[in-house]
Amino acid sequence: MPDGSHGSGRSHWGSRFGFILAASGSAVGLGNIWKFPYITGEYGGGAFVLVYLGCVLLVGLPLMYSELIIGRRAGKDVLGAMRKLTSHCGDMGKDLSGFAGMMGIASGFLILSFYSVVGGWAIHFFWVSLDLIPMAQGGADETFGALAGSWKVSTLWHTVFMALVISVVARGVHDGIERVCSRLMPALIGILLILLVYVGFTGGLGASLAFLFRPDFSKLSGEGALEALGHAFFTLSLGMGAMVTYGSYLKSDTFVVRDGVWIAALDTIIALLAGTVIFAVVFAAGMEPGAGPGLVFVTLPDLFAQMPGGQAVGIGFFLLLIFAAWSSAISLLEVVLAYFVDEHGLSRGRGALLIGGAIWLIGVGSAVWSQVFDFLDGLTTNYMLPLGGMIIAIAAGWLIKPEDRVAGFTRTGGAGAFLATAWLVVIRFVTPVLVLAVILYKMEIIRFE
Ligand code: TRP
Repeated sequence: MPDGSHGSGRSHWGSRFGFILAASGSAVGLGNIWKFPYITGEYGGGAFVLVYLGCVLLVGLPLMYSELIIGRRAGKDVLGAMRKLTSHCGDMGKDLSGFAGMMGIASGFLILSFYSVVGGWAIHFFWVSLDLIPMAQGGADETFGALAGSWKVSTLWHTVFMALVISVVARGVHDGIERVCSRLMPALIGILLILLVYVGFTGGLGASLAFLFRPDFSKLSGEGALEALGHAFFTLSLGMGAMVTYGSYLKSDTFVVRDGVWIAALDTIIALLAGTVIFAVVFAAGMEPGAGPGLVFVTLPDLFAQMPGGQAVGIGFFLLLIFAAWSSAISLLEVVLAYFVDEHGLSRGRGALLIGGAIWLIGVGSAVWSQVFDFLDGLTTNYMLPLGGMIIAIAAGWLIKPEDRVAGFTRTGGAGAFLATAWLVVIRFVTPVLVLAVILYKMEIIRFE
């Protein structure tokens, strides 16, 4: 096996295309369809989008490459990979890398526990849009309130969602993850395009495009810029080794950098398409864009109900949300499972059930107490992912060996050498500083006003 890193039993992706779909499935999630539109609404539209695109280029892409190449070169789970590639370093470097690896596994565990509750809400609203569960008298607001307020109903859907995730991951990298994501991603893009055509006829499309793509810099704040940076992280699934883990199943490291560009591009395009559709619906109804976190579950279902053909739109939209959340959740579980399989020899099937079960249990806590939900969300998104990303950037830029570092740029010739140098400068000096700024901002050490 050319892989040369681990026992011959280690799984691989069937094709490069399958890998790109699985990795973009990880990236495209609730972050794209639920969070990106509402923070864009809150921070004023076009200028925020522009800054966000800059962050994807300057921080997202360099880190994406770092994670992929670390995983690919080591051929191991995130903790094993961080340890292996820094084994020649001094104690401090080794400890730092090991810490980031462990934090990555913990992040996967904790994020999935609340992510799954939201995935469950999407399933609930899918049934509501099918009319199999009645909408409450007071509309979506009340429907959502009753759902989030009932731990029993939330737990039921959370259980269904976790079962979906476990059943895929248990079947393996190629037969489970790659196969399912190769169907979910094209379906997701198809639904999005149909919705896009539909909103072309309902009137809000022009206003939506102007809102998203005509930057008004007077609306941009420092706060918005840091939010954009933090979101670039979250939406690309960076900072916890999801891309390390997925990269570790690649067969070769030629041109990993190109794969990273594809994943980031797909993620960005899908976020922009989702934003376009959602704001077209909002503007067509004459509403304001700054609806906040309730945009998808509170504002949209009511608007769908008023639109011609709105039921079909609602069904398509919530299916989209389920697919996006599902393929992301798969990678969250895979990060944790890969660690137990690679480092502790647990079998995949048993491991998926055991670890998935443990995550499910913590998730019930999030379904019962909204404080648990908020605490886990804040802890992981605001601190653990950025800190993990900062250490991964330091490891990729300073700690790992030069031949590991540049491997993914091969075959790009002279341009490759230039890209490799540009990447090294950014990952060493720019990325860690910007990520540190996000952490300080989230800790409220950097303030605005
Ligand atoms: N990228 C996912 C989204 O946009 C969420 C996410 C963040 C994630 N970190 C992750 C998913 C790590 C998988 C692995 O919704």
